[in-house]
Amino acid sequence: MTQRASIIDGKAIAADLRGRVAAAVENIRSHHGWAPGLAVVLVGSDPASEVYVRNKGRQTEACGMKSFEHRLPADTSEQDLLDLIGRLNADPAVHGILVQLPLPDQIDADKVINTVDPAKDVDGFHVINAGRLATGQDALVACTPVGCVMLAKHALDDLTGLEAVIVGRSNIVGKPVAQLLLRENCTVTIAHSRTRDLAGVCARADLLIAAVGRPRMIKVDWVKPGACVIDVGINRIDGGDGKTRLVGDVDFDEVVEVAGSITPVPGGVGPMTIACLLYNTVRAACAIEGVAVPDM
Ligand SMILES: NC(=O)c1ccc[n+]([C@@H]2O[C@H](COP(=O)([O-])OP(=O)(O)OC[C@H]3O[C@@H](n4cnc5c(N)ncnc54)[C@H](OP(=O)(O)O)[C@@H]3O)[C@@H](O)[C@H]2O)c1
Repeated sequence: MTQRASIIDGKAIAADLRGRVAAAVENIRSHHGWAPGLAVVLVGSDPASEVYVRNKGRQTEACGMKSFEHRLPADTSEQDLLDLIGRLNADPAVHGILVQLPLPDQIDADKVINTVDPAKDVDGFHVINAGRLATGQDALVACTPVGCVMLAKHALDDLTGLEAVIVGRSNIVGKPVAQLLLRENCTVTIAHSRTRDLAGVCARADLLIAAVGRPRMIKVDWVKPGACVIDVGINRIDGGDGKTRLVGDVDFDEVVEVAGSITPVPGGVGPMTIACLLYNTVRAACAIEGVAVPDM
C-alpha cells in the first residue's frame, strides 16, 4: 500500500520565522535604539547570485534590519576583497557579513571566509564557527543546515534516536547538517560519491537529507516508507517546453508516494536559507552588542 507524504511547506515556515525575526528586531530597536545590520558582498555578476543577493537585501529590510550591499567587479583582486572585509569587520553598524559564493578563480574563497570576523560570520563558514559547532560549543551555524533541521523538526518534532542519512559532505551543507543532527541525538551517516550501495544506505534512513546537486538522483526504492525527506538540491533542467525548471536531488513525483513527509523544490529548503540568515544576523548582533537575544 502506498501512502502520500505530507508536503513540508518551507515557504510558509520561512515566512513564520521571518515574522519572528522582525518582532525580535522591533524589540531590540525599542529597548536599545539600534537595529542589526547585514552586509552582503557580491563579486561579479553570476545571475543566480544576483537574484539571491537582491532577495537577501529586500528581506533584510523587510525585517527592519539595515542592509548594506557591496557589488564588486568580476576582476576584483583578492587583496581588494580582503581590504573590504577588514573595513566591514571594523564597522560598528555591520553585525553580519556574507560573501556570496562562488568567488572568481583569482580569489581564494577559504582565505576570504577566514578573514571575516567570526563574531560577524552569519554564514557560519569560518573555521572557528565550524570548530565550535563540531565541539558542541555555541556557534553561528551555516544557514541551509539550520533550515534543514528546522524543517525536519517541523515534520517530526523530536529527532532523538532517528537514523539520519545525509547524501553530500560539503562544508556548507553536508558536514554542518550532520553536526546539527548529532546534537539532536540522531544516529548519523554521511554518504558521498564513494559510498558503496548508496541506495541501501539511503533506505535505512528515517530522516534522509539530499545535498548532492544531481537532478532527481534519489529514487523511490531508495526511500524507506514513512521517512522524512529533506531535499536541498537546486538543479536547473530543460523543461522540455523551451524553458528550464528547477528540480531537487530527489525524484519528488515518485518519492512523494512512499515518504512520510517531503520538502518540495522549489518552496522547501530554499526559502529557509535566507530566513535563517536573518535569524543568524539577529543572534550575531545581540552577542556583539552584549544584549539578550529576544525569543525567535
Ligand atoms: N537550498 C539552498 O539554499 C541550498 C544551499 C546550498 C546548496 N544547495 C544545493 O544543494 C546541492 C548540494 O550543494 P553543495 O554545495 O553541498 O554541493 P557540493 O559542494 O558540490 O557537494 C556535493 C556532494 O555530493 C556528493 N556527490 C556528488 N555526486 C554524488 C553521487 N553520484 N553519489 C553520492 N554523492 C554524490 C559529493 O561527494 P564527494 O565529496 O565524494 O565529491 C559531495 O560531497 C546543490 O544542488 C546546491 O545547489 C541549496
